[in-house]
Amino acid sequence: MPAEIVPTEDEIAVHWREESRIDPPPSFSDHAQIRDPALREQLDPSRGPDGFRAYADLLTWDRPYDRVLDDSNPPFYRWFTGGSLNASVNAIDRHLPGAANRVAFHFVPEDESAPIEAITYGELSGKVNRLARLLQDRFALTAGDRVTLYLPMVPELPIAMLACARLGVIHSVVFSGFSGKAAGERIVDSTSRFLITMDGYFRNGQWIDLKAQADQAARESRARNHSLEGVLVFERTPGRYQSTSRIRAPEEIALTPLLETTSGDPCPPVSRESNDGLFIMYSSGTTGRPKGCFHGTGGYLSWVGATTRYVLDLRPDDVYWCMADIGWITGHSYIVYGPLLVGATSVLYEGLPQWPDAARPWRISEHLGVTVLHTSPTAIRALRRLDPDLPQRYGAPFRLLCTVGEPIEPETWHWYHEMVGHRRAVVVDTYWQTETGGHLLATLPGIEAMKPGSAGPALPGITASIYDEAGRKLPPGSGRAGILGIEHPWPGLMLGIWNDPDRFRKTYFEPLRRGVWADRWIYCTHDAATWSADGYFRILGRTDDVINVAGHRLGSKEMESAALTVPGIAEAAVVPYPDPVKGAVPLLFISTQKTCGPARDLAAAVSRAVVEAIGPIARPYAVIPVADLPKTRSGKIMRRVLRAVARGEEAGDVTTLANPESVTEVRNAVAEILSVGTTGPSGERS
Ligand code: WTA
Repeated sequence: MPAEIVPTEDEIAVHWREESRIDPPPSFSDHAQIRDPALREQLDPSRGPDGFRAYADLLTWDRPYDRVLDDSNPPFYRWFTGGSLNASVNAIDRHLPGAANRVAFHFVPEDESAPIEAITYGELSGKVNRLARLLQDRFALTAGDRVTLYLPMVPELPIAMLACARLGVIHSVVFSGFSGKAAGERIVDSTSRFLITMDGYFRNGQWIDLKAQADQAARESRARNHSLEGVLVFERTPGRYQSTSRIRAPEEIALTPLLETTSGDPCPPVSRESNDGLFIMYSSGTTGRPKGCFHGTGGYLSWVGATTRYVLDLRPDDVYWCMADIGWITGHSYIVYGPLLVGATSVLYEGLPQWPDAARPWRISEHLGVTVLHTSPTAIRALRRLDPDLPQRYGAPFRLLCTVGEPIEPETWHWYHEMVGHRRAVVVDTYWQTETGGHLLATLPGIEAMKPGSAGPALPGITASIYDEAGRKLPPGSGRAGILGIEHPWPGLMLGIWNDPDRFRKTYFEPLRRGVWADRWIYCTHDAATWSADGYFRILGRTDDVINVAGHRLGSKEMESAALTVPGIAEAAVVPYPDPVKGAVPLLFISTQKTCGPARDLAAAVSRAVVEAIGPIARPYAVIPVADLPKTRSGKIMRRVLRAVARGEEAGDVTTLANPESVTEVRNAVAEILSVGTTGPSGERS
């Protein structure tokens, strides 16, 4: 795997040490949904895929499937073929006979003086049916069409997803924090017929004008020769349109008033074959172009439903709060589909967790009686920093605390366990990816011990191993790091990359098809990990060009392409730089053409270009101009050298570089810009 950088022994040594195991308390285990370790044997892939029937049985099918797994065209695996079902029926309708009055979502606006809105399963059904009917009757949307949803954390987002799912329309949600330009690019790639958005929303105490961003998305789409048939705009507060950008008929349509006059008659669900698409979720990868991870219906829902039950241990009587944004995969799987499949009650929070102060999450949790909390290490670190003793003063009945998105260091883990969970709650560290649909590594919380800093063993049905540079399997307990790979398919794996089957095979299944494994299709996660003798994995981080900022996955190539649009920039390279709260932040090195203006102005322009292309989450921590970037003789920029120098580490062997003298210049530039408290002499800081 030539492009991958497997961490060296030295890098592993500076990583945290393995901790001892902590058993779940009996108060939790005695009631956990999985108390029988036999699940591992039942799902052991060496017995074939039949064990997954139990996961399919968690769903309501319109037509039973003929085959569990069709693996005749690897790596394009198809699950539960011939079976048909509808996602919105599974998420909503099947709960209605017994639980129409159970709350599906408690919507908590960021403004604390605004009332919390409880939406029952019955009400959710009404809203989803009404919107589905409108999309079908007025806009002629049918199964297989694509619609982009550019919506914040408000009930309209899950409602729109489920309305699409009811019709078999493939939704593509774009995170509302992404720029209009990024949204436009995704509209074009998915060839969406419509864009559904909102006038705006509240975040960090401010009104964010989303409609203005949506205008830019539509412009970008037109500029790339794709015209939307329409832009449908919700009002954040019904009856009060608040965007500075007015709604321009006939392409733009005010959705909220239109829904009020739409028939409330049920909209019959469209039954979908198990391998028909449910959604596209764009994710960053190794090239400048985001890839549309395309998920199916039966396999995806069975995996998400099962992991919601067995890993999050979620039940209908739980009050569950996942702080992620629905615009990322965690929100799709574990705010929308998973919790609704099990019929649980979820908190949907509009804003920033620490708004207006660090106690907000604990007030919300106490007030609503949150039993299962799900968040990221970045959010935990941020809340701990603001006031480590705060959660103790509040009394939420947490029984399970989940973490996702980035490695959690033991110190932060222990704070979560002790101060938030009072050692009564179990902590579950879940490792997975947009591509995998749901969890891959985690402990089964009722029966497996927790180990701070280690995500856990592979889940039942998942065959995980680590592989060295030569593609050899490293056994558990080797003390070495390797690339994490998954040997057998599982139902949550995406169907492919939207419109690019070749890229799917090349990106995920070629890197580990080497040596003795040449005839096997092993899924490559592109994450490095260690594997201890007890079978637990510790994730060390990405080995490709993806950088993980505050649990958000960003493509360094996307940032570099944005930088290169600024006149005067010759080359750009992004590397992760350690950050005590966000895990890592992007550091952007640029080299400039001879005839350009002052480096300081350029740095500011580059930073703006990145924010415009991707969004504020990608704003570089610093932009560092140098005359020349370290390169190999074949002209490849040595990001590894930049990364080491930025961290103040040895650059390693630089004799193979075409320009070894550049390393000293990089070192000096880093020292100059990063050592200055706020804005460096030529750096742009955020
Ligand atoms: C990282 C998010 C360590 C990893 C669900 C992966 C983690 C990338 C963990 C996927 C974890 C996710 N421990 N690292 N528990 N969970 N990651 O696609 O690098 O947004 O490849 O999916 O996040 O990010 P994505």
